[in-house]
Amino acid sequence: MKKNWLALSLALAFASTSSWLHAEGNSDSGKEKSAACLSCHGEHGNSMVSTFPKLAQQHSSYLVKQLREFKRGTRKDPMMSAMAIGLSDEDMDDIAAYYSEQKISLNTLPVLNGDDEDDSKPAAAGDEAVNALITQGSDLYRNGDLAREVSACIACHGPLGEGNKPAAFPSLKSQHADYLIKALSDFKSGTRSNNPDNMMHMIAKKMTLEEIKAVAYRISMMK
Ligand code: HEC
Ligand code: HEC
Repeated sequence: MKKNWLALSLALAFASTSSWLHAEGNSDSGKEKSAACLSCHGEHGNSMVSTFPKLAQQHSSYLVKQLREFKRGTRKDPMMSAMAIGLSDEDMDDIAAYYSEQKISLNTLPVLNGDDEDDSKPAAAGDEAVNALITQGSDLYRNGDLAREVSACIACHGPLGEGNKPAAFPSLKSQHADYLIKALSDFKSGTRSNNPDNMMHMIAKKMTLEEIKAVAYRISMMK
């Protein structure tokens, strides 16, 4: 199973190379052009709001793909569609080059929301509960769930959550947990449908909300 996924991801990597080959942009111009993005995505692409994704250290291939899709309307978000509509292909290449060269900031251990917590347990159990979720998420990330056909994330997103630039598989490490939970929930419901061959939908639809949270917490702590 694992081997199959690896073979598939390699095949996909190869197949996608041509479609997402784009000129590497100019990161100096990209820095200037990214002024419009600062209010939401933060200094150097490290956003301070947990539902606004960090863009720092993300693969330029993936960033360009997303920007084109926001502009075309195949990925929908009211804020981002408005932003992307004004960008030319060159702007996208430049901005993507700039963010890909920035370093992503690390996260602190997530704090469980009220609805996660079991009221019967004392508050001091908070960190323990988070660590138990992270352990569960770690197992899912590496091994998937064979019985329920949830593929291991590691096959495409890499052992360190680093993604795959030629294939435009996003880097996930140190992303905000809240954004990861939203992204996985959007893939699950089909609200976000711009993923090639529907692969993220096929995976997320088999995951429970608890599994989504567990794997998101794990990924948010990857360095
Ligand atoms: C008003 C706030 C706002 C501004 C300004 C903004 N963004 Fe965004 N951006 C968002 C939000 C919110 C999302 C997440 C959308 C979702 O949940 O799918 C996002 C997502 C993205 C993504 C997808 C990231 C991923 O991991 O998939 C990219 C790329 C992006 N923005 C680039 C930009 C660029 C480049 C600019 C400036 C030209 C910009 N954004 C300006 C709010 C903003
Ligand atoms: C077969 C390859 C493959 C596997 C396996 C896979 N992913 Fe993905 N994932 C992708 C691709 C491709 C995208 C980008 C989709 C797009 O272009 O919008 C993606 C996107 C994502 C995103 C959105 C990132 C962002 O910045 O918006 C998250 C979160 C994610 N995957 C989590 C996971 C998790 C968790 C698992 C394991 C349970 C997993 N993926 C397994 C290929 C894969």
